[in-house]
Amino acid sequence: MTRPLKTARLILRPYSVDDAAFVQDLYSRADVQRYLGDGAQRVRTPEAARAKIAAWNERYVADPVQGLWAVCLADGTMTGSLLLKPIPDSGTKAERDIEIGWHFHPDHWGRGYATEAARVVLEHAFAAGLDRVVAVTNPANKPSQAVCLRLGMTHLGLSEAYYDAACELFELTAPAVGKGHSRGEQS
Ligand SMILES: CC(C)(COP(=O)(O)OP(=O)(O)OC[C@H]1O[C@@H](n2cnc3c(N)ncnc32)[C@H](O)[C@@H]1OP(=O)(O)O)[C@@H](O)C(=O)NCCC(=O)NCCS
Repeated sequence: MTRPLKTARLILRPYSVDDAAFVQDLYSRADVQRYLGDGAQRVRTPEAARAKIAAWNERYVADPVQGLWAVCLADGTMTGSLLLKPIPDSGTKAERDIEIGWHFHPDHWGRGYATEAARVVLEHAFAAGLDRVVAVTNPANKPSQAVCLRLGMTHLGLSEAYYDAACELFELTAPAVGKGHSRGEQS
């Protein structure tokens, strides 16, 4: 379920079919799709955008932690998407790990929105009990790698573990605070 979240500047909420024009605009852009998958995917019609939103909402409805958020300014202006979802292993396609990702409209790059939105999603993920979240980027996607580093993620180098592709792999583990045994506690 895509649970509403909030930061100082941003509101994260589920997409609705009313957002189809933004989804089409965002995902029809070569500069947004360039490093996503094979780079050739495009959402070209309102119908395709509505189908994408419906599929997202159906996919995440049953899970209390995962989601695909529309990231908006306080005045409702839409800026991009944040996602927290299972990541397919290379080869088997088994989904054992959880990845975080971000897709923002170029009109809203360079303002710290992706990092700010990702931070609250990571807080939500760890508060809900996840131990580890990964991110993968195309090796050439320096802006996305910079987001990972700003978030304090550890760069594990080039990896072919996921998506049957060579990606730069980053991970963040849950903060130790409040976890494990406190001093003097019996095990
Ligand atoms: C990846 C992507 C989200 C990065 O966007 P971004 O705007 O560089 O990242 P942020 O939103 O975190 O913004 C950080 C920038 O805002 C600047 N900034 C400006 N005002 C700021 C503020 N108030 N607070 C924080 N940062 C601010 C930062 O200095 C930084 O700029 P710099 O990169 O020149 O140092 C964006 O390029 C994108 O959507 N690409 C297409 C989709 C994509 O490839 N996704 C990743 C797939 S792995």
